[in-house]
Amino acid sequence: MTLRQIIHLPEPILRKKAKPVAKFDRDLQSLIDDMVETMREAPGVGLAAPQINLPMQLAVVEYGEHEDEEEPKEDAPPPPKKLYVLINPEIIKTSEEKVMGIEGCLSIPGLVGEVERHESIQVRALNRHGKPVKHKVDGWMARIFQHEIDHLNGVLFTDRAVRVWKPSEEEEEIPLD
Ligand code: NI
Repeated sequence: MTLRQIIHLPEPILRKKAKPVAKFDRDLQSLIDDMVETMREAPGVGLAAPQINLPMQLAVVEYGEHEDEEEPKEDAPPPPKKLYVLINPEIIKTSEEKVMGIEGCLSIPGLVGEVERHESIQVRALNRHGKPVKHKVDGWMARIFQHEIDHLNGVLFTDRAVRVWKPSEEEEEIPLD
């Protein structure tokens, strides 16, 4: 596996609509593995192909969230992480409910912003082998999915944010994608 370089604004590819993936060959499999490794190394909770300078509709997401809203106990183990590979994804259903949250982006270092997102969504996509899959996600996972799918359309969180600012030390813990 190889780490890929994550590009930053103002690289023009970050503003372009990515092209659908059509070939599910060996090269694609190793690209996906590279993206997972690059995301983990960053570290980030998601990474879209345009962020490594490839105009492809492909993103990886990895995040773990406690099931209930309650504060986890101090000695509780970290929640298990779920890994998703999204190819040619399409949002097919969105909740009416929207929630505000603070986002950052691996391609926009030094900025965070408050962004409104659907609380839950349904996504149709292809998995890494080209098989159609449907994902129902909510909470922070739904936020990450929406952030990644935006990347595939050349949209960045700063376009949607109600305000953006330089993160405080505490806010530097905000997961990036
Ligand atoms: Ni991002």
